[in-house]
This record gives sequence, C-alpha cells and structure tokens, in this order.
Amino acid sequence: MPSHKIIIDTDPGQDDAIAILLALASEEIDLLGIVTVAGNVPLALTSRNALMLCELAKKPETKVFAGCSRPLVRPLVTAEHVHGKTGLDGANLPEPTITLQKQHGVDWTIETLLAAEDNSVTICCLAPLTNVAMAMVKAPEILPKIKNIVLMGGGFFEGGNITPTSEFNVYVDPHAANTVMKCGRPLVIMPLDVTHKALMQRKWLDALKALGTPVGDATYGMLSFYERFDVEKYGSSGGPLHDPTVIAYLLQPELFEGRQVNVEVEIHSELTMGMTVVDWWKVTDRAPNATYINQINADGFFALILERFSSL
Ligand code: RIB
Ligand code: CA
Repeated sequence: MPSHKIIIDTDPGQDDAIAILLALASEEIDLLGIVTVAGNVPLALTSRNALMLCELAKKPETKVFAGCSRPLVRPLVTAEHVHGKTGLDGANLPEPTITLQKQHGVDWTIETLLAAEDNSVTICCLAPLTNVAMAMVKAPEILPKIKNIVLMGGGFFEGGNITPTSEFNVYVDPHAANTVMKCGRPLVIMPLDVTHKALMQRKWLDALKALGTPVGDATYGMLSFYERFDVEKYGSSGGPLHDPTVIAYLLQPELFEGRQVNVEVEIHSELTMGMTVVDWWKVTDRAPNATYINQINADGFFALILERFSSL
C-alpha cells in the first residue's frame, strides 16, 4: 500500500532522471503525475526527457504534463554545460512514443490538489520552482492540501554552483523560490550542503552497468557523462547526485539529518540573486520555515538506489 502520494516537478536532467526512476521503482510511492518545467534545458526537452524515462522504466501509463516555459520574472538560464544539449546526454535512449497530457501542468497540479484530502499530497521539487509558485499564486486554496514540499535547492555553507552564492534551481527562479519558502506549508530542503556529500563512486556506477538491464545501461551512460562537469570543477572523486535525495528522503528519512531553521531567498541584489540565506545559528527572530538537511548516509543512499533499480 503506497505511503506517499506525490507530484514530481522536474527538469530532467540526469540527476532528475535517477530521482524519477527511483520513484517509479518504489511501491511506497503513488506517483500522481510528473510536471516538467524549463530549467536544465528548455521545456520541450525536459518534457521529452520525462516521457523517455517513463518508457525506460516500463511505466508508459505515467501521466506527464508540461508546465511553465520560463521563470516568473527573470529570463530563463539553462545548464547545457552540465547536462549536455539534450539534457540527458549519455543516456542513448530512443525518442519517446508516449505523449504529453493535454492539460497545462500548473492547472493539473491545482485540479489534483483541490480534489485531494487536506495534508495528503507531497510535492517533490527537483527543478526551478516556477510551476509550484504559479499554482500557489493562481489557487492559494491548494495550500491546505499539501502535506509537505520536499525540494532540492539552495546552499549555504557550500555556497552556490551557478554563482558564488546561489544554487541553480533557486537562482533560475528566485521569485518562485521566495514564494514557496513563504508558503507556510512544511518544507524539507535538500541543499548543496547535503548533495555535495552524495558523490557517485566509480564502483557504484559499475554496479549500475552490471545490472545488465536497459535501466542499468542508460543510467550508467547518462551519469558517466553528467559527473565529468563536477569532477573537473571541484576535483572531487565523483559527481553529486542532487535530485534523488528528495525521493530517498521519502523512502528512508533515517538516511538524513537536518535542522529546523529560517531560510529566505535574495530577490533584490544582482550580486547575490537567488542566495538562500539560512539562519543556521538562529541569530535573527525570523521564524523557522524549513527542515534544512545537511547530513546524509551516502552509502545507504547509493545502496537504496541500486537495490530499487535492480527491480526495474
Ligand atoms: O543545482 C542542482 C539542481 O539544478 C538539480 O536539480 C539539477 O538537476 C539542476 O536542476
Ligand atoms: Ca533538476
């Protein structure tokens, strides 16, 4: 019996792909639908990639909706330098044969939440928060329906990955991130402070390949491409697997540790635009609004993914 009804908001993206496959491989998850957004690559490509991943997982019945094609206020910034031209370089997957749902992703999110029980749906955000913020602004009556929002975004002790201060998902749409941070619903944040402790090791990648399945081959290929950027940039032993921490948190929260703190987003200064300002030491009277995760059992995290992928 699934214990989590979720909506995934995503911009696949190789790390998004692992998160989506992990959700599709886990019976604890009732995936109501996937909503794509412009982020790593433009919307047409994030949508194409999401469809391809549902077919790779042999879940063609999964509903995929296209959401917003650009941030609320600022021009779109994409990350082909990390993810490649297609956003899923290295996966070597065929074009999708399944198609997008007709409804706009924001409208479907609103309709789905309004039809749900109070406190019943988890929104898993793996991308710029444009869709989620747009839904909240268009239909604030959805808020009581949201059980919690688990999002990959931000960074504080670790700094930023797209500017010196700011992480990509929050930087691309800081106004949307600001709206979500202030929405009043329970937030769990997976920032760079934890995802940079989830570095892929070659042994683990080889174990994906050793699965000898289409999922193993595709994920080995896409992650081997994806990790090169961070390994070169940080000189680290492997690339960080950001987005799957969101799904892993639902499956095994004991893998993570964090603190209830106040998190706000810079939306005025161009120098620090999109910075997540985390009152970790409680030096202000700003009320805590998020569980800010900064520790992970990385071995357990990677073992979970490998175990679930062996069933796909
Ligand atoms: O900063 C990492 C985040 O930005 C991840 O969600 C990655 O997929 C990109 O969207
Ligand atoms: Ca992402």
